Amino acid sequence: MLEVLPKLPADPILGLSAAYREDPNPNKIDLGVGVYKDEDGNTPILSSIAKAQNILLAQEKSKTYITPQGVQGYIDGMLQLLLGKGHPALIEDRVAAVQAPGGCGALRVLAELLKRCNPDTTVWVSDPTWANHIPLIGNAGLKIETYPYFDKATASIKFDEMADCLKQVKKGDVVLLHGCCHNPTGGDLSKQQWQAVLEIAQQQGFLPFVDVAYQGFGDGLEEDAYGVRLLTENLPEVIIAASCSKNFGLYRERVGLAVAVTNSNTVRQSMQSQIQSIARGIYSMPPSYGGALVDIVLTDPELKLEWQNEVEAMRLRMQSLRQLLAAKLAEKGANKDFSFITQQKGMFSYLCISPEQVQAIRNKHSVYFVDSSRVNIAGISLKNVDALATALVDIL
Ligand code: LMR
Repeated sequence: MLEVLPKLPADPILGLSAAYREDPNPNKIDLGVGVYKDEDGNTPILSSIAKAQNILLAQEKSKTYITPQGVQGYIDGMLQLLLGKGHPALIEDRVAAVQAPGGCGALRVLAELLKRCNPDTTVWVSDPTWANHIPLIGNAGLKIETYPYFDKATASIKFDEMADCLKQVKKGDVVLLHGCCHNPTGGDLSKQQWQAVLEIAQQQGFLPFVDVAYQGFGDGLEEDAYGVRLLTENLPEVIIAASCSKNFGLYRERVGLAVAVTNSNTVRQSMQSQIQSIARGIYSMPPSYGGALVDIVLTDPELKLEWQNEVEAMRLRMQSLRQLLAAKLAEKGANKDFSFITQQKGMFSYLCISPEQVQAIRNKHSVYFVDSSRVNIAGISLKNVDALATALVDIL
């Protein structure tokens, strides 16, 4: 029976890591998978997390099951981080949430929830969007359509086209939005554009589904929550998938949150039971460890401050790498204006070059990034930026 299925090609993002590892070139550069790296190319455990691990080790007395929704302190802390203290939906107890195994787990649980609510719903995703959004949502059996988002020719958001498309999306459909640090383009909505999206959602009645995987990497922890807070303060229903992979550096621990902001406590109770039953039917309950660490960090004022400073340091470093790459490319006489890199937000930039050029730079110079031309800005360093800019200029 098993022989009927073929071998599949490597994952477009994760597959790059294997190809990079196998490349014998000592000067190879990895700008593929979205993980933060320091100047030496390492992804260290955050100091606040390392301290929380020690606290947890001393505190934890049992490995019995946790509650089906996950670590409650983690859920409460994350909801405050996302929605802000004193959010009306929190005060009125209208928010259902479960700890999920990573942002991916949260996206999948919420996709399954949408399927239960309306099996005929269409989820509208940005063109382009994160490659894994498609299987996470599509494998739940939902239809997917795209709305225009990013113009490679001008390296900017095509908001008028996006707005025109969203004005056709009907009630009962869902629009997936990136809360901040758009993956893969780094092109974020301005405050005015978020306001316009809100007004279109109010008019059309579609359900916004916000993916928040990079909070703190764009303009700051509070600033990056602008869009998700605007929508949840002004719409009766919004669903949110959040991840702690990047801003807590907890990638392998798989720490995420699936949230349904509803319009009443009664609906909240139904949603809470539905999300938990979906999780029970897939993986039963989330792993406790990563959520317990985040809970410790967010509830201890000193650790929280240390973590906030660590997120800020990662954000500022990525911003300075953006400046550095754009300046190097200009200095080396690139026949294309790359100043847009400095305007984009978060971990990724779209270099707006062709897949053939991406493959050429990989084959000739051992520089690894996604075929779409998405680069992981955190993979740049003072040591490799010169070689990177030389390689890019050569290929262009
Ligand atoms: C990325 O976009 O590179 C990361 O979110 C890792 C992944 O799972 O794709």
